[in-house]
Amino acid sequence: MKKQITLLPGDGIGPEVVTEAVRVLDKVGNVFGHEFTYQTAAIGGTAVDQFEDPLPQQTLQSCRESDAILLGAVGGPKWDSYPAHLRPEKGLLRIRKELELFSNLRPVSIYNSLISESTIKEDVVRGIDLLIVRELTGGLYFGEPSERLDVNGEEAAVDTLSYKRSEIERIIRMAFELAELRGKKVMSVDKANVLESSRLWRQIANEIAEDFPEVTLEHMLVDNAAMQLIRNPRQFDVLVTENLFGDILSDEASMISGSLGLLPSASLSAEGPGIYEPIHGSAPDIAGKGLANPLATIASVAMMLKYAFKMEKEAEAVMSAINAALDSGVRTADLVYGNQGSVTTSEMTDAVLAYIGTEQTN
Ligand code: IPM
Ligand code: MG
Repeated sequence: MKKQITLLPGDGIGPEVVTEAVRVLDKVGNVFGHEFTYQTAAIGGTAVDQFEDPLPQQTLQSCRESDAILLGAVGGPKWDSYPAHLRPEKGLLRIRKELELFSNLRPVSIYNSLISESTIKEDVVRGIDLLIVRELTGGLYFGEPSERLDVNGEEAAVDTLSYKRSEIERIIRMAFELAELRGKKVMSVDKANVLESSRLWRQIANEIAEDFPEVTLEHMLVDNAAMQLIRNPRQFDVLVTENLFGDILSDEASMISGSLGLLPSASLSAEGPGIYEPIHGSAPDIAGKGLANPLATIASVAMMLKYAFKMEKEAEAVMSAINAALDSGVRTADLVYGNQGSVTTSEMTDAVLAYIGTEQTN
């Protein structure tokens, strides 16, 4: 198969991890006989520096014309004081909105060889297999007004949490469809004891549940969910929640797997190309030093193979290769506890590449 991929390396460690993930895509192409072609475009702070726009028109155009998009990360201290429309993060938010990527899938599992290295007890994290489904184009991130105010001469600010029925329906439906293919349980997370938007969310979740008799629906308040993710993460199968709650809970859940540097994500629309990206940020403090863990981006490539290209066995091969590489003992700095040595970003990729196309993985 031939596939056209837009690469959005972005800022900080973004370019490094995207470069490594492309090496993996190339290897998959060679081994399985596919042709992946790439077009690189600017997003985030890098795009602000070059084009005074965190999402230039030509970037959006390239994304729309591609079969899938691989993104590194955006943001950094350099742009922290820029006005809102020129912040790197605005580029990411705009592209999510422009491509209607309402559904953000963030799977959380644990690689066998890292179980003993999680900061959470082994018997709590063993066997965890959870899918966070985060609403990505609504809620507090996009509600209007969002601005500075003057309240009786005092400086103030407002952001707005608003959801329309259609926005809630489509994400809840997505969660149920995914749960049908997995453990058949949906946990809808909200703050219905306080927020009106959450009460609408809960009401709609109950309605949609009627269309999925095989799937069990439960509700949980977000503060409790934050606690339960650490106390007993295995109770979750599919966890669906609004944008900001999902942002926070997915960073928390990443610690179950041992490092923020391990978790991939896919942002999908009803039709059209999706964005595949690590859930970690741009980590400007370690950028350019070869310290970044490329595995979250490599696992995002596996999600791309699976969801965008329907290449199940190729996706499997990438995930098994990550497992095998970790089993062989290589660790980037974020995975090193105590006094083990660590490998660089590209050495970690070398280790993964060595297991793609071998008998063990294919
Ligand atoms: C994420 C990130 C983004 C978000 C930032 C960079 C805008 O934290 O993808 O989780 O908050 O959605
Ligand atoms: Mg986040």
